[in-house]
Amino acid sequence: MTRSILSTGLLLATAFLPMCAQSPSATPAQTNDPGAINFSTNCSGCHGSDGRGGERAPNIATARNIVSLSDVDLVSIVNKGVPGTGMPSFGFLGEQGVKDVVAHLRSLQGKTSTMKASGDAAEGRTLFFGWAECSQCHMVKGEGGYIGADLSDYASGLSLEEILRAITDPDASLSSNSTVVELRLPDGRHIDGIARAEDNFDITLQMKDGRWLTFNKAKLVDITHTGHSFHPRDYGTRLSAKELDDLISYLVVSAANVPARHQRRRGH
Ligand code: HEC
Ligand code: HEC
Repeated sequence: MTRSILSTGLLLATAFLPMCAQSPSATPAQTNDPGAINFSTNCSGCHGSDGRGGERAPNIATARNIVSLSDVDLVSIVNKGVPGTGMPSFGFLGEQGVKDVVAHLRSLQGKTSTMKASGDAAEGRTLFFGWAECSQCHMVKGEGGYIGADLSDYASGLSLEEILRAITDPDASLSSNSTVVELRLPDGRHIDGIARAEDNFDITLQMKDGRWLTFNKAKLVDITHTGHSFHPRDYGTRLSAKELDDLISYLVVSAANVPARHQRRRGH
């Protein structure tokens, strides 16, 4: 059984060889870890030996949407492949083989979180809860606001560039259901929040302070879907490079103290 699995894997690896820029390592030998061997034989050729992507396949080591998948999801993807794309099915590795590969992928993902940020995490914390006002909207370890994501272990599995981008370019990764809506009330007041529910008659906003309010649309003077995130768009200019470094270091240090990468939750 073991032998036939192995030889299928090798055959497959050979079949990929001509198409892959990087040859799927023919010498997975230095390790006895079956997951590492299977990964190197079956995945590296397309996803790279560190899983960070190659010419033929995306980054699966630090891409947030993959890191945040459950083990069950990953096992299922590896088993079935992604039909209609270049991601083949690896069901032939058998149940244990697939589990081993996924375990190895997790270890590749985990490694990226130990990256060193050069800033001062204590200064970053002061900024976060001080005049940068991150804590108005975000929580770290139970302290802070609700409207943004809980950032306690946000940084785990992400590169420093990805974290910086999330802070300085919030609209780039904005999901359509978290854009800010501005309402003008008959008395002239403006209210903004994230539309959590909307139908022909009513719209329910969640405000910056976390409260939910429902408005009768017929009574509103104006409703504007801004297409923007609540997260301020001017941090790239408002904060110095050093301050951004400090903030990122704070998030990295915080995540390093939260081992449960897979328990990360979105703020909405
Ligand atoms: C022949 C090239 C190839 C090989 C070999 C390969 N993959 Fe992929 N893989 C892809 C491509 C292409 C995608 C992107 C699919 C898409 O467009 O959604 C992908 C996507 C993925 C995804 C993300 C799926 C998603 O939902 O976005 C995971 C996880 C993954 N591969 C794991 C693996 C593992 C583990 C192995 C080894 C057992 C492996 N891949 C081998 C080409 C490959
Ligand atoms: C006015 C509220 C607000 C403030 C202030 C704010 N954010 Fe955000 N932030 C958000 C919201 C809401 C999101 C979720 C993105 C979205 O809209 O889908 C977000 C997203 C993020 C993300 C990406 C989270 C993810 O899960 O993808 C990071 C990182 C982040 N903010 C860090 C910060 C930092 C650091 C500061 C302070 C310098 C800050 N935010 C200030 C509201 C805010």
